[in-house]
Amino acid sequence: MERIRKALEQANRDRAQGHADLGSGGGIAANLSSAIRYTQTKVIDVPERVLTENRIIAAVPFHESKDAYRMLRTRVLQTMQENQWTSLAITGPNPGCGKSLTAINLAISLAMEVTHTVLLVDLDMRKPSIHEYLGYQPEVGLSDYLLHDVPLSQALINPGIERLVVLPGREPVRNSSEMLNSPKMVALVNELKHRYPDRLTIFDLPPILDADDALVFVPYIDSMLMVAEAGVTSRDDLQKALSVLKSAPMIGTVLNKAPSRRSRYGYGYGYGYGYGYGWYYGKKRRAERAKARAAARTKA
Ligand SMILES: Nc1ncnc2c1ncn2[C@@H]1O[C@H](COP(=O)(O)OP(=O)(O)OP(=O)(O)O)[C@@H](O)[C@H]1O
Ligand SMILES: [Mg+2]
Repeated sequence: MERIRKALEQANRDRAQGHADLGSGGGIAANLSSAIRYTQTKVIDVPERVLTENRIIAAVPFHESKDAYRMLRTRVLQTMQENQWTSLAITGPNPGCGKSLTAINLAISLAMEVTHTVLLVDLDMRKPSIHEYLGYQPEVGLSDYLLHDVPLSQALINPGIERLVVLPGREPVRNSSEMLNSPKMVALVNELKHRYPDRLTIFDLPPILDADDALVFVPYIDSMLMVAEAGVTSRDDLQKALSVLKSAPMIGTVLNKAPSRRSRYGYGYGYGYGYGYGWYYGKKRRAERAKARAAARTKA
């Protein structure tokens, strides 16, 4: 009785401090699953100035471009739930098109839905950047777990957003594609995917056309989201990237950095779904739809 009372008191204290167990049940093997709890996770305070400067707008209260991420979240979530997928990898054809920023903003938007928890994993091992966006230099990263058996719990951080835990990289590593394909990595991904049905795992991957890292990882994830940069990513590159990934369940293509009249920042976060380049480049199809709508209006 005394033990139960103490446990309840501890739980109340944790709740009061904004801590929560990311897991959904007991009986956890004494390995990485037990590590993914806020109670053991380092909480870092990311100032709003850093969030704004680094365009992590999903976490900035009342940001004018937030809605685009909410819409993206809803579409992604619907597709994942329909298919019972719990993991999503984000990639793009080329460097710099906005994969990491999309991964971070989407992960935050997803975590703001109270029905599940989110784990954001930096799998761009050649150029980990999620910690930089959060303005934080980790002492331990994913590669320390994979290469040096450092407990995963030491790498996890909570960036002050409820229900979100980040597994960052620390520094670039060599042999990144071998590491992504290593038995330890595969075991980690399987564990992350299957342990808790209410947890979504978002992986930030490197560009598809630059190295085979993203490709070797495809068999281990449920779904993928492609990020293309408006005005920069060529149709050829996008088609190449989609065809390289043709075996992967593709949720859609985000058209990032699209000019937006609504945004003071001059950028928007357009998105298209299905094989997005149809939407992205489909001027003819858009014109046909507009014509059909006009015809329908005339009929009415
Ligand atoms: N929607 C956006 N509007 C304005 N700037 C953006 C947008 N998305 C990304 N950026 C900027 O573009 C740059 C690259 O973004 P990001 O790091 O997310 O790209 P990446 O595809 O992950 O790059 P890499 O291939 O190097 O990992 C950053 O300076 C980022 O701030
Ligand atoms: Mg990146």
